[in-house]
Amino acid sequence: MASVVTPSIDEDIWQDVWDEERAWREENPVQEKVPDPLTFVIFGGTGDLAHRKLVPALYSLTTSKLMPTQFAIVGFGRSDRDNDEYRQGLRESVQASGVRVQDSTWDDFAQRICYVQGRYDDEMSFSALAETLDRIDIESGTENHRVFYLATPPDVYADVVHNLGTAQLNQPSQENGWVKLIVEKPFGRDLATARSLNHCIHEVFDESQVYRIDHYLGKETVQNIFVLRFINGIFEPIWNRNYVDNVQITAAESLGVEGRGGYYEKAGAIRDMMESHLLQLLTLTAMEPPPAFTADKVRDEKVKVLDALEYPDEHHPMRSVVRGQYGRGMADGRMLPGYHDEEGVAPVSRTETYVAAKFFVDNWRWAGVPFYLRTGKRLAKRVSEIAIQFRRAPHMFLPDGKASRPRSNVLVLRIQPDDGMALRMEVKVPGPGMRVRPVDMSFMYKEAFGGASPDAYQRLLLDAMRGDSTLFTRTDEVETAWALMTPMLEAQSNSDDLPMYPAGSWGPAEADALLEQDGHRWRKP
Ligand code: BG6
Repeated sequence: MASVVTPSIDEDIWQDVWDEERAWREENPVQEKVPDPLTFVIFGGTGDLAHRKLVPALYSLTTSKLMPTQFAIVGFGRSDRDNDEYRQGLRESVQASGVRVQDSTWDDFAQRICYVQGRYDDEMSFSALAETLDRIDIESGTENHRVFYLATPPDVYADVVHNLGTAQLNQPSQENGWVKLIVEKPFGRDLATARSLNHCIHEVFDESQVYRIDHYLGKETVQNIFVLRFINGIFEPIWNRNYVDNVQITAAESLGVEGRGGYYEKAGAIRDMMESHLLQLLTLTAMEPPPAFTADKVRDEKVKVLDALEYPDEHHPMRSVVRGQYGRGMADGRMLPGYHDEEGVAPVSRTETYVAAKFFVDNWRWAGVPFYLRTGKRLAKRVSEIAIQFRRAPHMFLPDGKASRPRSNVLVLRIQPDDGMALRMEVKVPGPGMRVRPVDMSFMYKEAFGGASPDAYQRLLLDAMRGDSTLFTRTDEVETAWALMTPMLEAQSNSDDLPMYPAGSWGPAEADALLEQDGHRWRKP
């Protein structure tokens, strides 16, 4: 395997690159701009997301000196906790998330955290919250800048938003204040509920205050799609139907529902992953270059892709969709439970834990190129990637035994694990004759830049606090995505077709057939 990861070919060139980067950083401090002083309020403060993702991300931003000197964190939740208990629980989960916690930094960080107990549907609780926030502004100099994060179960989003409005927490009360609202996914469960949530939010907040989060957009390799496509001159000429044969987008998980059976039963793979993460990956892969990297220009282009997305047969969407559910299976000599064995799952559940689908992007660039998407729980491996399969060379000039046609080149954008890229190409096998074999020219973030990439939430929380919504979804984007899913969701509710696949496998055989009918095969990453 050829590896192009270190500055080895021409050290002088690389020295220039590093020097340029250093000079650029000095001249462009705005990239590292620390947000204004602020209070970060987490609704669902005792929940899993706050503990596993949000507070670890805020702590890491603090240790990376990316938080303002004056900031406070308020956890709001239904359970009873005092501040010390709350802080201690957070410390344990920050540690458990893999972030290194140092006593001195933690003590300062913990002093900034407090807990407010209340009910989401209770106006009084929000008045109490407003008093706490005013007091924090005075004591901590947070200047009436507030971020509200909806990390509760989605069924209380509307209550929280409404009560923020009633308590007049939706607008700043001082001249230089500001208020932002971050909304965790799932944003609705179909088009009607997404529209109604948008409506309810817009009654209280202006769209410019709203940040709908999809954590896949915070992943390094996902953001790298912009750079790969629009900063490197070599890809644009071939990034279209003339050179691309098909695109495969995979988000495979080896774990099951991990104690979230109750939530997952109502969601399923289409709502949980396809409508959000997979469609986002597709839009970034297929979009036109935006004229500038600004929130609206980027999102305009993404919405155009979603608008152009089509099922191969609009009257029969399920002909290009395969759903599945995992049964018991084996991996590494271990017995893996089936979906029905999971906690919180009904013994007769028909919820899909796997979905594969084929779409076309019906526009000039992509006409006729299939985009295959798949995602599932308890698959053979945890891997997320976008694979661009290029058309084969038209003629095999070597008398090569098995290969009557040259193999396709594939560009793989690996999102996780081992985030990076690889370009697969054929090379001559050393020795006599002219035998060929595929090799990967690859790059891995951790080798090239040292260390693991920051967690997606760090980037997204920082962007929201700074007021940059480029990596967040807009009203029309989320509604267009749900509109596309509607025929699939409606058809699936009338269908009994739910093939089983063994836990630890690559999904149901029917998903293989979906590609085989086009003469393609899923990659086995
Ligand atoms: C979440 C889904 O949005 O993404 C989960 O609700 C899923 O079911 C998770 O496991 C996957 O995220 P990641 O970053 O681990 O790929």
